[in-house]
Amino acid sequence: MIEIKKMTLEDYEKIKDNLQKDFDDFWTPTILESELKNENSRYVVAKENNKIVGFAGIIILPDDIEITNIVTKKTERKKGIGKLLLDKIIEISKEEKKELLSLEVNEKNLIAINLYSKFGFEKVGIRKKYYNGIEDAIIMTKKI
Ligand SMILES: CC(C)(COP(=O)(O)OP(=O)(O)OC[C@H]1O[C@@H](n2cnc3c(N)ncnc32)[C@H](O)[C@@H]1OP(=O)(O)O)[C@@H](O)C(=O)NCCC(=O)NCCS
Repeated sequence: MIEIKKMTLEDYEKIKDNLQKDFDDFWTPTILESELKNENSRYVVAKENNKIVGFAGIIILPDDIEITNIVTKKTERKKGIGKLLLDKIIEISKEEKKELLSLEVNEKNLIAINLYSKFGFEKVGIRKKYYNGIEDAIIMTKKI
């Protein structure tokens, strides 16, 4: 059974050495650590038999809330963990009394775009050459 819980620095310690190998290569441990220490961030973790299989986070900004990331362990994808994580961060976002949840996603990341669309996010804009000066970012938002 998958459980979704608040992500702690202890959780981070357990995954930090294999973050890029097990989860994804755009994550650097130091960024994740500082996100977890940021009082405006909220992070959740997915655990199966006490092993971390995914995590996701938001940052609360003055005008809206942004999803900073959502990632499922490479070996555990396509089992519904991404949906559980996204569902939970939407729930947490609603408690913050802001109107909009937004995110940026690489135009090539059709899997993530599918996931967000499924939860009612809509494409509202593009940031040209946002990734590596080459690929565009799509901005998606959802009213909460
Ligand atoms: C995006 C990601 C978090 C999805 O996690 P996951 O646990 O595999 O997702 P789920 O199993 O809950 O699937 C959720 C939905 O995503 C979409 N999806 C998942 N895998 C897919 C695939 N291989 N092809 C197309 N769509 C896919 C589907 O819409 C799916 O819903 P469905 O199962 O009802 O069809 C995962 O692929 C990941 O970690 N990617 C790398 C990190 C990343 O790109 N994060 C987003 C940054 S903006």
